[in-house]
Amino acid sequence: MENPFKYGGVVRRPYFADRKNEMIELKREMANLNLVFLVSPRRFGKTCLLLNLIERLRRDAMACAYVDLNAFPDIKSFATALTSLTAEALETNKDKLLKMFSAFQKLRPKVSVDPEGKISAGLELAVEEKDALSALLEGMRHAEKLAAKKGKKLVVIIDEFSDLEKYNGRTIEKAIRSEIQKQTHIGYIFSGSEQSVMLAMIRDRTRAFYKLGRIMELGQIERRAYASFILGWLKKGGYTANDDDVKRIFEIGNDVPYNVQRLCNVMWDNAMETKAIKPALIEKLPVIIAQQDSPHYEMLWRSASQPQKVLLIALSKDQAAKPFSKDFQLTHGIGPSSSIKASLDSLVKKGILFKTLRGSYQFVDGFMPYWIDYIMKTIH
Ligand SMILES: Nc1ncnc2c1ncn2[C@@H]1O[C@H](COP(=O)(O)OP(=O)(O)OP(=O)(O)O)[C@@H](O)[C@H]1O
Ligand SMILES: [Mg+2]
Repeated sequence: MENPFKYGGVVRRPYFADRKNEMIELKREMANLNLVFLVSPRRFGKTCLLLNLIERLRRDAMACAYVDLNAFPDIKSFATALTSLTAEALETNKDKLLKMFSAFQKLRPKVSVDPEGKISAGLELAVEEKDALSALLEGMRHAEKLAAKKGKKLVVIIDEFSDLEKYNGRTIEKAIRSEIQKQTHIGYIFSGSEQSVMLAMIRDRTRAFYKLGRIMELGQIERRAYASFILGWLKKGGYTANDDDVKRIFEIGNDVPYNVQRLCNVMWDNAMETKAIKPALIEKLPVIIAQQDSPHYEMLWRSASQPQKVLLIALSKDQAAKPFSKDFQLTHGIGPSSSIKASLDSLVKKGILFKTLRGSYQFVDGFMPYWIDYIMKTIH
């Protein structure tokens, strides 16, 4: 039997755990063609949830388009992707699509010549740089018209939405807002992990998306449902484990779904022979993972300066610590606050730490403190 605890990529049923309530809520919001901002820290399972939601919505005969802003460096490429994905979601006939695309003002079907010199018009679109924003709006208008014509509801999901800032700032936000307000056939989900950026976009009254939709904060997977998912798979595989074992895994993984999946995956492999899950094995799991990912941590470690390393060591020992407190600075022999602030900012930029909404600093990768602890022990 293959290891049922998948991590890293998109996880689908039957390996996708719970999220029943979130799914029901999002389905209801989209049936009403509302706009939802989905926000969570990294690795909580937004992308997995959204891709599983799309499967459900399509079963209910709704058209869906999924765009990951990460993949589009400029408005030009975003505009062409959004336009073609929404059109393809609503129209499957290629000839009809091509006809539609040739009627665009700003967007043009990309004509390509194959090695034998044959010219073909693909479904890819092209646009001039100066027309990028108006092309995006043309594409949005087209999606609305097409949905109305087909008598269908369209759901547009934009993942990594906080990346919108990398385009030309506020102009695009305003333009998108006014277009969305005119639409009556499209529901939207904007999803992002840069919580502070996302929330600033939505909660700041001077910004275009202020009160345009509701905010849904994606939390951890509910423990009871997640535990029965995990115990169910273990039982199927012939393993013996109990509630306390799973509880300990949630604690070690801080209830971050990625961490929990990773821990369960390693536990499955390590107990393959005996099929017995023992507390001692569970305590070893994060150390095994830290060793597996060692090359990655070494690279991050090398990118940090000496004072930053000292700070990371201190934080890895006490993750609830307040780095600006006198207590913390005296205990670890570091300071003053101004240089700690500079180190923290730099470590956030390097992607090693992130700042929580409450203002504390945490490791982006929950297993890195175990790696730091491990190298400290091997040095001394
Ligand atoms: N419901 C779930 N069932 C099982 N595993 C899950 C679930 N949700 C998340 N995971 C695990 O967490 C990992 C990360 O999930 P995902 O990429 O969806 O998170 P994300 O919130 O989109 O992260 P990021 O903000 O980094 O894009 C998945 O690869 C998977 O291992
Ligand atoms: Mg994601």
